[in-house]
Amino acid sequence: MKSSILTFILVICTPNDFGGTGVNVVIDGVSKPMNAKPNDILYELEFDGTPNQYYYEIVGNPAISENALFNGNPRTWDPQSTTTFYEVYGRRHSVGDELIKGVPRLYPPLDGYKKYSQLFQEGEVPVIHVNIDQSQYTQLTTTENKEAKYKVEFDLYTPYEKYHFTNVTFALSGQDSKNLDKKPYKIDLSGNKADKYNSEIFNRKEFKLRSLRYDESYIKNKIVTDLAESLGLPITQSNFCRLYINNKSYGLYELADMYKKKFIKRFFNPQKNEDEVIYGSFYKGVSGDFPAYLYSDFPGSSATPDEIIGELYESIIPPTAGYDPHQDIKAMIAWAESLPETASKEEIEQKFDLDMFLKYMAIEYLICHWDGYLGNGNNFYIYIEPNNGKYHFLSYDFDSTLGKWCHAVEGTIDSYVLHVGDDSKGNPADPYGSEPKNREPLLYKKIIKNPNIKPIFDNLVKGIVQNLFNLQALGPRIDYLYEFLKDDMYWDIDTFIYKTFDTKYFADGGVQEEPSRITTDAQFSDLTNTENLKAFIKAKSENLAQILGIPKLEAKGDYGTVGEKMMTIG
Ligand SMILES: *[C@@H]1O[C@H](CO)[C@@H](O)[C@H](O)[C@H]1NC(C)=O
Ligand SMILES: *[C@@H]1O[C@H](CO)[C@@H](O)[C@H](O)[C@H]1NC(C)=O
Repeated sequence: MKSSILTFILVICTPNDFGGTGVNVVIDGVSKPMNAKPNDILYELEFDGTPNQYYYEIVGNPAISENALFNGNPRTWDPQSTTTFYEVYGRRHSVGDELIKGVPRLYPPLDGYKKYSQLFQEGEVPVIHVNIDQSQYTQLTTTENKEAKYKVEFDLYTPYEKYHFTNVTFALSGQDSKNLDKKPYKIDLSGNKADKYNSEIFNRKEFKLRSLRYDESYIKNKIVTDLAESLGLPITQSNFCRLYINNKSYGLYELADMYKKKFIKRFFNPQKNEDEVIYGSFYKGVSGDFPAYLYSDFPGSSATPDEIIGELYESIIPPTAGYDPHQDIKAMIAWAESLPETASKEEIEQKFDLDMFLKYMAIEYLICHWDGYLGNGNNFYIYIEPNNGKYHFLSYDFDSTLGKWCHAVEGTIDSYVLHVGDDSKGNPADPYGSEPKNREPLLYKKIIKNPNIKPIFDNLVKGIVQNLFNLQALGPRIDYLYEFLKDDMYWDIDTFIYKTFDTKYFADGGVQEEPSRITTDAQFSDLTNTENLKAFIKAKSENLAQILGIPKLEAKGDYGTVGEKMMTIG
């Protein structure tokens, strides 16, 4: 007689969103109803026996049965196991371990990468289910007070575990993107200091959910994060998650780590004075009435330079000593303005982390980061070591890059800087205040164009294009991410088609076209229209191979691979 073994079947689904009333699991041809707790998204079944093959179906909507979605290829049971993963309805890959492909690592890894968190584990897409009071949710998505914070609870599912957090702060995040229909959020667990299990997850107390509303490929920020890591740059981790709120589908999000004190600790090793960490100062460059190009003068403006500098360089961590949170950035601006245009490399390096800057500028140029420092004078950070110490420059926010709204696909760095701010008709960028035309970004003028530095920059770009920034090196990783995430991308697109969530545009927001399978697929399959991810990388790398005399584009790094699964608890 066959001994009876209990197996556990677990799947995350919101049948109501797709016109259904429940979830069945079809085990070796026999359909069985599954159960969920009220207002939950986890459907469960305890099964007496070991399945061979199985799939899920939504009761009341056979059109999106997994049998149809997976073209008749069911899921197969792992005979060693008595439970499924925390599976997700319609997603073929619960973990991507067998698919993962990395990119070559060109420069030695930083120690800070050892402190990466498994919250962003490669080859996993965790699920977050937020529970918020319905009237507070309405406030959150309609209020003009976009800084409002709400207390929520949420579940987080990795493929292996379910975690529950209470007393969590939930708020909108992002800049322009918070005005769009699909809102970006931030989640802060740190209100529960006495209760460690409830106050951090894989060593992180807070994280962001970026809405990916401008990126039809969903993976641009992730790919550029890989590039930065390959070059040995400080960068926050990026992964994906599914968001559900109050038992409804909200779509695929980017799960992003924060540029805050922990980031400075991880990468810049600030020293302690007694028990207190002396961080130095940290600024975020945000373009406003002027691009944040690091000039101290603002011709034609009625505001004082102090006021404008206060707006363009947001203080994230104020200086340790002193009263003016902007004193260190002003000192840096003064340094850059007085730097001779032919300063030696050694002179620059006394105050400035030249290597980090050139590598980030190479990235901006290669990915066409028109909303970065070299473009709009936007989206960067400057870390200044304590007591007006060394200056470190970092670019960030890479989702509208790699072809999106790029007006400088081809050409040298000089032609890039000249044209990246052009509008779609080829008209030049807005003038700098009351001056007749825009200025060159100060650090471009003083450092990249400096004849002692320019050959170093060109050589750096050449090496990156030859070995990393081309389809030979990036193609396999892009293909893996597409295959692994495709079901989640399509589900995200479906949340618009089925109108599963009811959030709104804020009045001051532009409207963004709804995502579609066609535009998403083209990012990965088209090789000619440079608005698409792969086509852009191909065109840019081939153009630079010609300009810089690169004999062969290949995948080659001396330091292993970036983007593999993390094996240790971080
Ligand atoms: C989820 O919410 C819908 C209403 O939006 C409801 O019909 C359904 O029963 C809920 N699911 C559960 C498991 O409670
Ligand atoms: C909830 O969080 C707040 C801070 O946001 C904190 O002051 C309070 O002690 C927390 N309550 C519990 C029960 O942990």
